[in-house]
Amino acid sequence: MKLVIIGSGYVGLTTGTCLARFGNSVVCVDVDESRVSTLRQGDVPFYEPGLPDMMKRNMAEGRLSFTTDMVEALRDAEACFICVGTPSAPDGSADLTYVSQASRDIANALKANIKADRRNAAPILVVVKSTSPVGTNARVKQWISEELGLTGEFIMASNPEFLREGSAVRDFTEPERVVIGVDSEAAGARMRAIYSFTEPEKLIFMDIPSAEMTKYAANAMLATRISFMNEMANICERVGANVDSLRKAMALDSRIGDKFLYAGCGYGGSCFPKDVRALRDFAAVSGYDSRILTAVDEVNLRQKEVLFEKLSACFASMGGLEGKVIALWGLAFKPKTSDTREAPALTLIQRLLDAHARIQAHDPRAIDEARHYLGERQGLLYTHDPYDAVNGADALVIATEWDIYRQPDLGRVHKLLSSPLIIDGRNLYSLSEMKKAGFRYYSVGRASV
Ligand SMILES: NC(=O)c1ccc[n+]([C@@H]2O[C@H](COP(=O)([O-])OP(=O)(O)OC[C@H]3O[C@@H](n4cnc5c(N)ncnc54)[C@H](O)[C@@H]3O)[C@@H](O)[C@H]2O)c1
Repeated sequence: MKLVIIGSGYVGLTTGTCLARFGNSVVCVDVDESRVSTLRQGDVPFYEPGLPDMMKRNMAEGRLSFTTDMVEALRDAEACFICVGTPSAPDGSADLTYVSQASRDIANALKANIKADRRNAAPILVVVKSTSPVGTNARVKQWISEELGLTGEFIMASNPEFLREGSAVRDFTEPERVVIGVDSEAAGARMRAIYSFTEPEKLIFMDIPSAEMTKYAANAMLATRISFMNEMANICERVGANVDSLRKAMALDSRIGDKFLYAGCGYGGSCFPKDVRALRDFAAVSGYDSRILTAVDEVNLRQKEVLFEKLSACFASMGGLEGKVIALWGLAFKPKTSDTREAPALTLIQRLLDAHARIQAHDPRAIDEARHYLGERQGLLYTHDPYDAVNGADALVIATEWDIYRQPDLGRVHKLLSSPLIIDGRNLYSLSEMKKAGFRYYSVGRASV
């Protein structure tokens, strides 16, 4: 099949590359010319394990290409996937600017091809993969129809994406389920053909609004579990309980399960924060005030402050944080990605700079992206070795649970720090090992050492 992917970010590039791997001819379109030229050279502009090799192989075998030219891309295509960003607007609603632009671009490209007498053999299937509020699919249909001025040239489907950064290739090629919303048999049949690499029982067909809603409900449930456990951790700290013990015991209850039960310094990323807010917003627009979603977001915003609060408390009797040097391990919002969008580390950096502290930050993959979001800031230094970050610092803070931070040379860290203080936002170390190694150690939902 000839397939077109609109938007070559985490979702679009993974989708396009994986669909090419299954033998389709895939063209990825992006409006960002520099991104397209990077991709054409075989480089992936972000870190995603396994993606670069697969991308290069499919390019070399002629099944995967990149362009800014939507007209040529859509010629003879059987389906196009809208994979553009849907960021938060300032009021928390989903900003559909990119989706609306992509819809109009599709319409104009179809129009140009029709005018040049290159009408596609069958109506093209327009699939909305971007996470977007209930009703977006209908709006896309309307935007395209208005611009095109013709009917019968396209059919619609909703196919929200559930891949996770860090395991995106496996998540796409071996999905736990594929959610597909359609309102016509033709669209259903085309989606079935595209996903023929998946066991049929994993394809969950439903109406379009339910498909759109499913993605938000799933992300909101996961975010709720995280905020719930963070709430439990904060209570544990105050009453002398240990959140790790709680988690282990709770996880053995099959009604609860063991996933998403880790307390920490809050969730970030390009999905949970914005999706919780967008769901709350479109619920409110439809007349429903979701108190759970409001609380989940508020608990998370507060949790992103805990690292700074703990640091401030430690330095309160030492003249505050001004002029202190803080080593920071981890910038990405989670391990195995270079994505720093809404990362707790970025909140901490901002607070520390406001308090006139100096930061020596390390991350195995996310330094370029953090630099892109934060710009060059006085008092913020990036290091390519975790021990360089610790050298001469007054404290070490851990914000991301990368594997390389799990078993560091604690003796070396102790020696390099000017005072042996660790604030651990991911509960990486046991209290006993910290005690033995001679650190003052503060984590989340556990006793301090
Ligand atoms: N990142 C994830 O882990 C993830 C997982 C599941 C779902 N999603 C959802 O998928 C969507 C995309 O997310 P992402 O992280 O891949 O975004 P991203 O920001 O990494 O990529 C979006 C790309 O779209 C391009 N673009 C914007 N307007 C365009 C247009 N008119 N035509 C062509 N290209 C255009 C941008 O230049 C950019 O390269 C969002 O709705 C997101 O919520 C993301």
